[in-house]
Parts: sequence; structure tokens; C-alpha cells
Amino acid sequence: MLPKRGAEAELRRTTYLGREAVEKSRVPKGYRLPALDEALRKARIRTEARLIGEARAAGVSVPILYDIDLVENKLVMEFIEGPTAKAVLEAGGRKADDVCGMIGEAVARLHGADIVHGDLTTSNMILRGGRLVLIDFSLGERTSSVESKGVDLRLLKEALTSAHARGPEHFEAVARAYRRRYAGAAEVLAKAKEIEERGRYT
Ligand SMILES: Nc1ncnc2c1ncn2[C@@H]1O[C@H](COP(=O)(O)OP(=O)(O)O)[C@@H](O)[C@H]1O
Ligand SMILES: [Mg+2]
Repeated sequence: MLPKRGAEAELRRTTYLGREAVEKSRVPKGYRLPALDEALRKARIRTEARLIGEARAAGVSVPILYDIDLVENKLVMEFIEGPTAKAVLEAGGRKADDVCGMIGEAVARLHGADIVHGDLTTSNMILRGGRLVLIDFSLGERTSSVESKGVDLRLLKEALTSAHARGPEHFEAVARAYRRRYAGAAEVLAKAKEIEERGRYT
């Protein structure tokens, strides 16, 4: 079982200059040394803000960032209205196949720009209109590491196969789109498989 990710942030609906928005804040964790906790929360917020910008520049749909507050450790971003990829995959049918293609394309663009998302679950993807919007970059990083990209795909495969009956098929569809859009795809997919096998025997 992979460790549970995320879940450290608090989200609430708000408005920003009259627009529907979401405020994502990082609340103090009592079990951490205060200075360390503060540094970690700030780093997460900064990382998320920076990567949202970099992902956008790489052609991936992401929320518009409205505000960043490093005193209160929070971000205010555009509210993305729509079902999560998880919901679309559960409903199945043609839309589910389309979403797999969109997931593969988005991850290809990220990895092509050396951005690793860090938490590629189907709850961190929202389908708005005909576009897949990626959220939750707080565990991401900028890296050209094939290993890190492989971990990203491995996580996505785990998320698909643990939550959806047709998970393996879905992952195959994701991988097809990923290969089409990213020149380094074969190497990363091989690495993801290696990581999966490593996990099975340890
Ligand atoms: N910009 C947004 N628009 C709409 N819903 C959002 C947005 N950001 C977060 N959410 C919702 O809140 C949930 C948790 O936010 P997320 O950024 O994934 O934080 P966590 O680190 O706790 O996983 C998401 O799975 C999604 O349902
Ligand atoms: Mg999340």
C-alpha cells in the first residue's frame, strides 16, 4: 500500500474580487517542531504556486492563482467547477476513455517540461467542459529524473487500479496518450514497471 498523500491542507470556498475561488491553507501541525513546521508549510505553498505557473507554461490546464499569502500560508485560486476524473472513470463509457487520453496528454506535457506532479490521483484532476484541469501540486518538484517521473506514473497506475474496476485498461489508455506526446515516455514507463516489480518483492 502506498502511503496516504495530501490531506494536510484545509480547503474552503470563497470569492476573490467577486469570482468563485478556493482558499487552500496549511494549518500548523502540533506534532512537529514549530520552526520546522512553519518552514515546511511555507515551502509547500511556494512549491505549489511556482509549479502551477510552470505547468501552465507547459500547456497544462491549471487553476488561475489569485493570491499567495506567506504570512498565513495560504493560496487563493480559481474554483474549478466539474467532476473529478475519479467520478468520470467510475461512470465509465466514452467519457472515461476520453479522460484517460487527457490524463496521458497532461502528464506527458508535465514530464516533458521536467515537472513531476507528486500526487497523481484521479481526485487531483477535474474535468471542466472538455478540458482536464490538474490541481494539487504541493508535493511536486522540478526535475529531469527518470526515477521521479517513474514514481509519478507508478502512483497514477496504483490510483487507477485501486479505485477503478477497469483500472489496468485505463492505465493502458493513459500510457498510449503519454507515449504519443512525450519523447522520453518509453524510458519512464519502463522505470515505472521496474519500480512496481521492486515493490512486489520487497
Ligand atoms: N481549485 C479548485 N477547484 C475546485 N476544487 C478544488 C480546487 N482545489 C482543490 N479542490 C478540491 O479540494 C480537494 C483537496 O484539495 P487538494 O489541493 O487536492 O489538497 P490536498 O493536499 O488536501 O489533497 C480536491 O481533491 C478537490 O476536490
Ligand atoms: Mg489532493
